[in-house]
Amino acid sequence: MEFKRPKIALIGGGQIGGVLAQLAAQRNLGDVVMFDIVENLPQGKTLDIAEASRIDRFDVSLSGANDYKDIEGAGVVIVTAGVPRKPGMSRDDLLGTNSKIIKGVAENIKKYAPDAYVIVISNPLDAMVTLMREVTGFPAGRVFGQAGVLDSSRFASFIAWELGVSVKDVNALVLGGHGDTMVPLVRYANVAGVPVMEMLERKYKDPAKAKEVMDAIVARTADAGGEVVRLLKTGSAFYSPASAAIQMAEAVIKDEKRILPVCARLDGEFGVNGYYVGVPAVIGGKGVEKIVELSLNETEQAMFDKSVNSVKTLVDDMKRLGLL
Ligand code: APR
Repeated sequence: MEFKRPKIALIGGGQIGGVLAQLAAQRNLGDVVMFDIVENLPQGKTLDIAEASRIDRFDVSLSGANDYKDIEGAGVVIVTAGVPRKPGMSRDDLLGTNSKIIKGVAENIKKYAPDAYVIVISNPLDAMVTLMREVTGFPAGRVFGQAGVLDSSRFASFIAWELGVSVKDVNALVLGGHGDTMVPLVRYANVAGVPVMEMLERKYKDPAKAKEVMDAIVARTADAGGEVVRLLKTGSAFYSPASAAIQMAEAVIKDEKRILPVCARLDGEFGVNGYYVGVPAVIGGKGVEKIVELSLNETEQAMFDKSVNSVKTLVDDMKRLGLL
C-alpha cells in the first residue's frame, strides 16, 4: 500500500485563509489547497508560504486554485469564504451576503469532496453551518463550526491576564451561539482545578468586587470579536480564528478525541432538537463523535435558552428569505 498525506482544502484565501494555510503547513498537517474566486490570490499566498518551507521545516505541499476540481480528495475542508464585518456591524448583518456564498461553496464541496469533514468559520457562524449541512446533506457529525474554541480561548486569556497566571492552566468554556448572547460558563471556569471565582474573591477580599470583575470579563468575551473589528476597522479577527480551526482540524486528522467546544448539531442534547449550537464535543477521526452534556443551573440555562433562541431566529430568517 502507498501512504499519502492528508489533503486539506481551504475555501477562501483571505485573511483567515492565509493564516490557516501557514499554520497547517508549519504543523505538517497535510497538503494544502487554497481555493478562492479571486484569480491568482490563492496561488500567490500559497507560493509565498511554501517558499518558507526550508525555514519552517515542512514537507507538505501548498497550492492555489480557482477551480473547485482541485479540492478533489480533500479529507478536511475549512470554509472562510464570505465577507467579514466592518465596524458597527453585527455578525448577523452578514447573513444575506454570506448565505448566498456558502450555498455555492456547499454545492461544490458536495460535488468534489463528498467524503470530507467540513469546518465552517464564515459568519454568522451557527446559520452558515446549518446551511452547509443542509446543502451538502452530509451526516451532521461531518459538518461543524468554529466558534467555541476561540470564544473559550478569549475567555481563558482574559482570566489569565486578570489573575496573572499562565493561560495554560486556565480551563474556561463558552457555550451557545457565536454572537452577543454566547454563554461564558463562570461556574465551571478554573485555574489548575481551583474555581476562578474563589481566586478572584481571595484576590479582592470582597465578593461583590470579584463578581464585578468577572462580569466585565464575561462582557469582554462576548464582545471580543467586536473589539478587534473596532481596532482593525477594515475587517475582523483572523489570527485567532485560524488557530482555533486548525486545532479542530488536527483533532480530526490525528483522531485525537479532544473535547472541544464546537458548533454541532444537537438532537435532543441540552434539550435542543435539530439546531446547530456551540457545545463541548468529542472531536476525532469521525468528526463530532459525541456531544458532552453538562448540568446548567437556572441562570446558565436561561442564558443558554436565550442564545439558542437567537440562533433559531437567524435560521428562521434564512428560511423566510428563501436561503435555506
Ligand atoms: N467562493 C470562495 N471564496 C470566496 C467567495 C466564494 N463564492 N466569495 C468570497 N470569497 C473569498 C474572498 O475572495 C476572500 O478572499 O473569501 C475570502 C474572505 O476573506 P476576507 O474578506 O479576508 O475575510 P476573513 O477575515 O478571512 O473572514 C472570512 O470568516 O470569521 C469569518 O466573519 C468572517 O465571514 C467572515 C469569514
